[in-house]
Amino acid sequence: MGNITTVSEGSKKSDIQLKKFKLFNFLVPSLASLALFFVTLLFIGSFFYLNDSETGIKTSTTNLARWSNIEITNGSSSSVRPSVRGNGRVGFLEEGGGECDIFDGNWVWDENYPLYKSQDCPFVDEGFRCSEHGRPNNFYTKWRCQPKDCNLPRFDAGTMLEKLIRNKRVVFAGDSIARNHWESLLCVLSVAVSNKSSIYEVNGNPITKHKGHLVFKFDDFNCIIEYFRSPFLVVQGRPPPRSPPRVRFSLRVDQMSWASRLWRDADIVILSSGHWWTYHKTLRAGGYFQEGNKLKMNMSIKTAYQRSIETMVNWVNTQLDANKTRVFFRTYSPSHFRLTTTLLLSLSFYSLENLIYKLSLVMEVLSQRPNKVDVLSVTNMTTRRKDGHPSIYNVRQENEPLHHQDCSHWCLPGVPDSWNELLYALLLKRELSKP
Ligand SMILES: *[C@@H]1O[C@H](CO)[C@@H](O)[C@H](O)[C@H]1NC(C)=O
Ligand SMILES: *[C@@H]1O[C@H](CO)[C@@H](O)[C@H](O)[C@H]1NC(C)=O
Ligand SMILES: *[C@@H]1O[C@H](CO)[C@@H](O)[C@H](O)[C@H]1NC(C)=O
Ligand SMILES: *[C@@H]1O[C@H](CO)[C@@H](O)[C@H](O)[C@H]1NC(C)=O
Ligand SMILES: *[C@@H]1O[C@H](CO)[C@@H](O)[C@H](O)[C@H]1NC(C)=O
Repeated sequence: MGNITTVSEGSKKSDIQLKKFKLFNFLVPSLASLALFFVTLLFIGSFFYLNDSETGIKTSTTNLARWSNIEITNGSSSSVRPSVRGNGRVGFLEEGGGECDIFDGNWVWDENYPLYKSQDCPFVDEGFRCSEHGRPNNFYTKWRCQPKDCNLPRFDAGTMLEKLIRNKRVVFAGDSIARNHWESLLCVLSVAVSNKSSIYEVNGNPITKHKGHLVFKFDDFNCIIEYFRSPFLVVQGRPPPRSPPRVRFSLRVDQMSWASRLWRDADIVILSSGHWWTYHKTLRAGGYFQEGNKLKMNMSIKTAYQRSIETMVNWVNTQLDANKTRVFFRTYSPSHFRLTTTLLLSLSFYSLENLIYKLSLVMEVLSQRPNKVDVLSVTNMTTRRKDGHPSIYNVRQENEPLHHQDCSHWCLPGVPDSWNELLYALLLKRELSKP
């Protein structure tokens, strides 16, 4: 995916140019003051980066627009939108749209977003309620994913509930990013349900990060949407007998998590893993890798991660009924931690290495052999959404000091809604292609 563009590019640019022009007239047009102007501009630009961690995504155009108080609201939704969707691209669902790579595209500004407000969605975790925690603007909720070569269908909660998941069971398994994604799905779907108490956790559990298994039912549609916490997807258990004392737990990279037997009968399974395959969460914490009944003390994290993905693919291929269950693997969701002291690094710093190897490794495994896993390939487009993290707005601002930043998860509404729009498009496409 390329750069971020705003829908109303043409008119905004001329607005900005006009503004610039006025500014130029304002200043004595000498070379020195011209230089001063640009230095000031740069300074003000960097000020945004320093103080406002969510502006990271904005193109310089948008920053400039903000700075010069140009409103990028209502990109005249009604007049611009048709021209964006009617931009000569084929609809993904239309004939000829099937070849389109919906994961390759741009983020475009769209006034019709977000799809819901966090206040209206009771299923959003406290930590993801950015607007309610004082985040000063809602720009991060306004970007829509626009594939390069086709148009996505507009997300329609009613259609999804009625046509795609009525009487079905949807399972998400993974780490807290999977929960983030799952909560987003609950929210985008709940828009179509007026009686919110007809959507409930079947065991009466609240949504918190402490619950490892949550089962939501949409009563009117007899549909279940579940979350299983399983950050490694494979078995995490006691180390074999006579292991060295530094081994606190083992990760059995050749064995799917015990809970996986509860995923098997679902109609749609959305798996993901990645963020926990780090030194800190494995070896450093006393977690070593195991194959068969042997600990592999010197197996690298990379190899272990690869084994776990192979195990997952193998499980899907051999244990699931492909006629019943559709399996997606959601690719790595990038984090964007920045170094607060170093301005320049703060602009681009994120765990690039992690991201690249985790993505390429998964793609390699998934492309190696025939398999029944569909890829929800969100990594590429998501790298460009560093504005979408809760950052400091993961807690109520009045109660907490500013030190705890969350640059891994996503605000809701926000980026995971787009993942669900992509999921929706793929499911709908499949449904329509049924004889
Ligand atoms: C990400 O998107 C860019 C721009 O479309 C493309 O050039 C690049 O190959 C993509 N990367 C991956 C890993 O797909
Ligand atoms: C946005 O634009 C549409 C069409 O031009 C208009 O009807 C609507 O009132 C505008 N909304 C806002 C918030 O300005
Ligand atoms: C809302 O849903 C709940 C649970 O299904 C049900 O008990 C209640 O009667 C519904 N309320 C209305 C107004 O339909
Ligand atoms: C890992 O350990 C085994 C024996 O336990 C050894 O044969 C092998 O060479 C080691 N591999 C590396 C990369 O150190
Ligand atoms: C899946 O469906 C196809 C076509 O209906 C059928 O030929 C095949 O045997 C089914 N596979 C299984 C495992 O049920």
